[in-house]
Parts: sequence; C-alpha cells; structure tokens
Amino acid sequence: MTKILNPTIENIKEAAAIIKNGGLVSFPTETVYGLGANALDEVAAKKIYEAKGRPSDNPMIVHIARASDLGQLTPMLSEDIVKLVDHFWPGPLTLVLEKKDGIPKITTGGLDTVAVRMPDDEVALALINLADCPVAAPSANLSGRPSPTKAEHVIKDFEGKIDAIITGEDCKVGIESTVLDMTSEIPTILRPGILSAEDISTVLNKEVIYHPSLLGQDCDDFSKISKNKNDENLKTSPKSPGMKYKHYAPKAQMIVVEGSHKKVKEEIERLKILNERLGNEVGVILFEEKEFTYAAQNFFAELRDLDEKNLDLILAGAMSSTDGVGFAVMNRMFKAAGYNIVRV
Ligand code: TXA
Ligand code: MG
Repeated sequence: MTKILNPTIENIKEAAAIIKNGGLVSFPTETVYGLGANALDEVAAKKIYEAKGRPSDNPMIVHIARASDLGQLTPMLSEDIVKLVDHFWPGPLTLVLEKKDGIPKITTGGLDTVAVRMPDDEVALALINLADCPVAAPSANLSGRPSPTKAEHVIKDFEGKIDAIITGEDCKVGIESTVLDMTSEIPTILRPGILSAEDISTVLNKEVIYHPSLLGQDCDDFSKISKNKNDENLKTSPKSPGMKYKHYAPKAQMIVVEGSHKKVKEEIERLKILNERLGNEVGVILFEEKEFTYAAQNFFAELRDLDEKNLDLILAGAMSSTDGVGFAVMNRMFKAAGYNIVRV
C-alpha cells in the first residue's frame, strides 16, 4: 500500500524513516517530483529502477541537503565546484563529479562519476536531512512518461507501487535540472534546464558549452550556441546515458510546428481543422511567444492532460531556442515528438 502524505513535519519524519529502512518515497522538488531511496543502499537503489521500469544503465541523481555532504560522494572539489555550489545551490543545477568508491554502482549506472544536486524545496531538504543519507532520485514518472510536476501525476504513475508519496505544491520550475559535467576539460551541459550555459559561464568566468548531441535539436536558430558544433575535442556520443532514451512520449502522434510565432499559430490551426475534418481528435500545445518560464512550468502537465484524452494527434508550437529556457523547453518538446518536425 502506498501512503499518501501531506507535508507535515510528522509525515516527513515518517517518510524519512521509510527511506532509512530501504523504502521508496516520492517527494516534491522545485524542478519535478523525485522518486527517492537511500543512494548508498544497493538494494533500495535497485528498487527505483524496478518501480520505474528504467534501464539500469541510466544513472540517477544523488540529492543532498548540505553542501558539506559533497565530500562523502566525491574526492574532487575544485575552486570551480565551490563557486557553483555557493552560487546555485540549493537550486536546479546538477553537477557530474568524480565518484567515491562507497557509492554503489547501481546508483551511478556503472559510471565512475556521480551526479549530485541540492534541491531548492523545503520539504525535499527536510526529508533528506531527516533521512540522514544521500537520496538517489530520478524523476517520479514511469519510464517514458512525462516528468511529474504535480502530486497527482505521481499518484497516477505510482500508487500501489511504492511506499509513500509526499504531496507538496506544484513544481515551480517544471522541467528537470541542468546537468553539468564538471569532469570534462570544458564544463559541459549534458541536459539543458532553466540555468543556461551563459548563466553558469558568468559565475565561473570561463567557457561553458552544450554537449554537441544537444545541438542536433533541429531548432530554427543556433546562432548563440553553434560555435561549439565543430569542436573536435568533443565526441558526439551521448555522455549522459539519459540522452539516448526516448522520452516523455505521449500515446498520440505528436508534431512540432516550427517557424515564426505567427506562422506557427496559423499552421497549427490549419492542420487542426484538416485533421478534425478527417475524423481525428487533435490537441494543441501552444505558448505565448516569449512566455518561456510559463512554458517550462506547464509543458509536462499539458502533455499529460492531453495524453489522458486519448487523442490521435498533438500539435505543438516551437518556441525560440535562442533563449536559454526556450532551448530547454524545446529539448523536451522535440523528444516528446520523437523529432517529428514541420517547418513553416
Ligand atoms: O530536476 C531533476 O534533476 C530531477 C529531480 C527529481 O531532482 N531528477 C531527474 O532525474 O531529472 P532523472 O534520473 O530523471 O535524470 C537524471 C539525468 C539523466 O539524463 C542521467 O542520464 C543523467 O542525469 N545522469 C545521472 N548521473 C550521471 C552521470 N554520472 N553522468 C552523466 N549523466 C548522468
Ligand atoms: Mg527523468
């Protein structure tokens, strides 16, 4: 049976005890809900993969509540890492670091690096503190489903399958954290999030790049990031195993319409009418031109809502990728559509 717990201190204590005893608890973070277990307990970490139906070579992010817990996970604490921790934690930045031996391989998907972040959410921080161990937590969705940004999404995917779900607020960021590899020569973003290469570069006062495989996003404008495209020092094979999996796929066919905002609107309307005339049920995801933060907050929830309706077709309007948050939203939108793109 799954305990559905609202975030009172007693309930958070109860959930922390479940994690200590090797159980699985879903909890809110500022990005998306996580599905947590003791990161140092091999058996518990393994249960996460089973519950999600996730391939076990896809590593998990380890969540901590105090920067001083970093030393337990990684031997490599450079000045740059300290700068990032001071500036961005707690917050939506995950650092890929050299891993210490004590972390089970199952947690890191067999890699010799570990991804760590400190979430900016009081409930999450209280839970991790009380559990008194680093908490491995991928997004709390069944593998292949959109990431959960509301407690009801987690309940839908996991009621009856895990020990407890803490029902917090809706996630204020709405897309997963920026994953930054600090083990490469040039700090490299492996997964875009609301913190952009530019934001991180400003703090480090050095170049920060997007992994070249992200630049295959097929967006209309790469002017800001394309200079990295031909960097021969970088391999284009996925560095982050998560990159290679199909993500967030809705049951309906999904098409992204890309072009100027006005043309995108018109084309979506045209395709909608056309398909409805042929007897298809059509859903639309279309944000205002520059509402990037709003789009990040709402994209997964809209995708889930449309998916519930058993539609035949979902038409989504592309946003500008020159904006860092727009780029991160488009990363999710293209993946959800399986890179099915119409240009106007
Ligand atoms: O916002 C978030 O990061 C959320 C919340 C719950 O904190 N978590 C999350 O976890 O999105 P997950 O497991 O859904 O995504 C983790 C991503 C995957 O793409 C994985 O491949 C990558 O991080 N990753 C984890 N460890 C890594 C490592 N050692 N090296 C490279 N990539 C890693
Ligand atoms: Mg995920």
